[in-house]
This record gives sequence, C-alpha cells and structure tokens, in this order.
Amino acid sequence: AQRRRLHAALSPFLLPLAVLRDVRDSMRAELEYGLKRETQGKATVKMLPTYVCGTPDGTEKGKFLALDLGGTNFRVLLVKIKSGRRRSVQMYNKIFAIPLEIMQGTGEELFDHIVQCIADFLEYMGIKGARLPLGFTFSFPCRQASIDKVRTAAQNGFRWQLCVCLVSDIILGKGDLLEFDLDIVAVVNDTVGTMMTCGYEDPNCEIGLIAGTGSNVCYMEDMKNIEIVEGNEGKMCINTEWGAFGDNGCIDHIRTKYDREVDEGSLNPGKQRYEKMTSGMYLGEIVRQILIDLTKQGLLFRGQISESLRKRGIFETKFLSQIESDRLALLQVRRVLRQLGLDSTCDDSIIVKEVCGVVSTRAARLCGAGLAAVLEKKRENRGVERLQITVGVDGTLYKLHPHFSRVLQETVKELAPQCDVTFMLSEDGSGKGAALITAVAKRLHNVGQ
Ligand code: BG6
Ligand code: GLC
Repeated sequence: AQRRRLHAALSPFLLPLAVLRDVRDSMRAELEYGLKRETQGKATVKMLPTYVCGTPDGTEKGKFLALDLGGTNFRVLLVKIKSGRRRSVQMYNKIFAIPLEIMQGTGEELFDHIVQCIADFLEYMGIKGARLPLGFTFSFPCRQASIDKVRTAAQNGFRWQLCVCLVSDIILGKGDLLEFDLDIVAVVNDTVGTMMTCGYEDPNCEIGLIAGTGSNVCYMEDMKNIEIVEGNEGKMCINTEWGAFGDNGCIDHIRTKYDREVDEGSLNPGKQRYEKMTSGMYLGEIVRQILIDLTKQGLLFRGQISESLRKRGIFETKFLSQIESDRLALLQVRRVLRQLGLDSTCDDSIIVKEVCGVVSTRAARLCGAGLAAVLEKKRENRGVERLQITVGVDGTLYKLHPHFSRVLQETVKELAPQCDVTFMLSEDGSGKGAALITAVAKRLHNVGQ
C-alpha cells in the first residue's frame, strides 16, 4: 500500500514521449508568436532581440573589462584578446559575493555594490584609473534598444526587481563618483555570453543554453524572421526568455500539485512556469513539497515534519546533486540529509533519492523538449535534411548534477532526430563572451565615428 501511495505521488512526473512531443510543439509555436509583430504583444516567450549579429571570427582584439552577474556568482574580469594566427584569450577574474539582502533589494543597491566591486577589482589588478571598454553579462531579461542600451531590465522575478533604467547610465554615474572611467560598450544576457564564449572555439555554435539557477536559451535567428527589427539581411541573436513558457496555461496539464505549491510560495506566482519546472532555483523546492506531502501521509520521517523541512530553499542544487550521485552509498545520502537537519532511516533515504530522481529527470526532459523546438527551427531555417550544430551550455544544474546533462541529451536525440548536436560546456563562463561582443561592438563603433 505504501508503494502504491508513493507511486501515486510520483507518477505525474513521468512524462511519456508523446507528452514531451506536445511540449516541443507548443514551445515551437510560442517561439513563432514572439517573433511576429502581430502576436508579439501577447507572446509569453518574449524573443528579445539582442543586437548581436554574428559569432566571433577571430579578428577580435584588445583589453576589456567584463562583468558577469550569474545566478550563483558575480565575477569581474579583465580579458585580453589577441587576434590573428596567435589568437588567444587571457583572463583574470575575481569572484565577489553578493549578500542576500542586496540580491533581493532594489536595483539601486545592487548597482552600488557592483560599482564598488569594480573599484576593488581595478585596485586589486593594479590598474586603477585605466580606461577600459566594458561588457556586462547578466542573468535577467532586458529589452534592448541597441547593443549598449538597456531600456528595461524589468523584473527578473526571482532575483532583482530592477526598475526601468539605463544600466549603463547608472554604472557610469556611479563610476564618476568613485573616479574611474569606464566605457560601457555591450550589455548581454548570460545565454548570449555563453554562446559567444563557445563560439570563439567553435564557429558552429549558434545556440546558448543556461541550465542553472534559472533556465533560458538564445540562438541565432535569420533577420528576415524577426519582424520586430528592421532589415532582412544576416542573422541576429534572439534571447528567447523561454522560462516564461506556459504562463498562458499551455502546460498546466502537466503541472502537478507540487508545482502549484512551489509557484504559490514564490516571489512571482503564475510567472516563469516552465522555469519553475526546469531550473535549479526551484527543483529543490519541488522536492521539498513532495517530501512534506509524503511525510504527512506517514510514508517518510516517521510522519514528523521537522523544522528544517519547513525551511524554504534548503535543497540547493548541490545537495540534490550529491543525493543523486551514483557514487554515494545510502549511508552517505543519510549524512547529506543530516547536514540539512533531516534525520532519516535507511528507507527514508531510498525514498528521498527516488523523489529527487523523478524531479530532476522531468526537468531535464522538459528542457530537452524545449531545446528540440529551437533545434528544429534552426534546421528549417537552414533548409537542410540534417542539421549539424553546437550548443554552448553553462549553469550549475548542467555542470554539477550527475544525470541532468545525459538525460537532456538523450531527450534531444529522441525529439529532434534530424539534428546532430554537439554540446559544448562553457568552461570560462559568459564573461569571456561579453568581452568578445564588446570587442566587435567597439570595432564597429570606432569605424562609424
Ligand atoms: C556562469 C556564467 O558560469 O553560469 C553566468 O558565467 C551564468 O553568466 C551562470 O549566469 C549560470 O549558472 P548558475 O547556476 O550560476 O545560475
Ligand atoms: C532567468 C532570466 C534569464 C536568464 C536565466 C538563466 O530565466 O530571466 O534572463 O538567462 O535566468 O540565468
């Protein structure tokens, strides 16, 4: 009977291939809505133009400062790029912590902090006073008017509530106060930075995927398909912001009661429904909701809901990854749970591991279904029977989790069988990509002057 109840709780997470195909097809339809002028207004997947019109070609050069505000880290980097036969990229970086209260505070406080970090970094590198072009990559959406103008870095929903602002003006204004001279040349989403980082090694990299705290994809789209931007020649990178997929209810039939609970307890109820099923920020919360339910049913933890289990956010990606690691014996799983303040029996630890498994597998499969939609679109754009393409990937879920990347890749094979995909891990983070974009923008800018 116990087994049956456990099965009843977990079976809605096992999505058959037919359902995943539907998810892929709905995602595909949403991508189209976002690109068309007529439907753009009500599209959930925003398809933001980035004004990045090409991948690196090896002619980039110079010395740049890059800021990389990711889901987990904030990094300031000095990037030296050499072009020509001895093309290379040298990077020096420093990771700065962003305290929680700043992270959840106002945009103003966040930028104050960022500017202070830049000042510290310049001092640390011994280049105080240097005037360097700067590229800024960050993990929240922004509507851009050009490569360096961010009109609305509107609500990210789960990190900062950045109001309508010109990011560059803010940083420049504050930089003046601290007496350093910066020249903001490019502002890009982290997916775009990731695609560019990988694009430097592999010119066939035309898709950037982040499977981390958040979930998102960008890809190179043909200009002729982007109705909201003038011009029909060449390509432009589109930041899909696919995390909002499903906000119109189109995937509600696959959401479980646990997903709804997570959503209701979140900072942005009703928003980012797909992201809430696929990204590191929420997977632990889904697990926690299931565990609470199973405990209430008397199937776990001797029916006692401990204080720790009531705590939001206890299951970070790194813990889920440890629990699901094949190398970890059950005794060690119990040790991880103890670290989290959960006293488990051997049977408990088996169930917890199973719960984590179904939640992360569903996430990887859903993410694979979304990616298959983007791949199929690319294949049709190129008008080829088979598509050879590279996807640049970053994010703690993809990197740390023992099974996520494999399941994602298997799903893509099943749902986009005509695409031969190389997944390339972005080893250097998206700051390198931001510097490359800055180099191109700077060159174009100077030519125009
Ligand atoms: C980093 C990139 O490596 O990965 C960031 O440099 C990106 O730009 C991040 O935002 C995503 O991962 P996570 O797990 O930190 O959200
Ligand atoms: C969130 C943000 C998006 C970012 C993603 C990955 O979905 O809205 O801009 O790319 O997280 O960090």
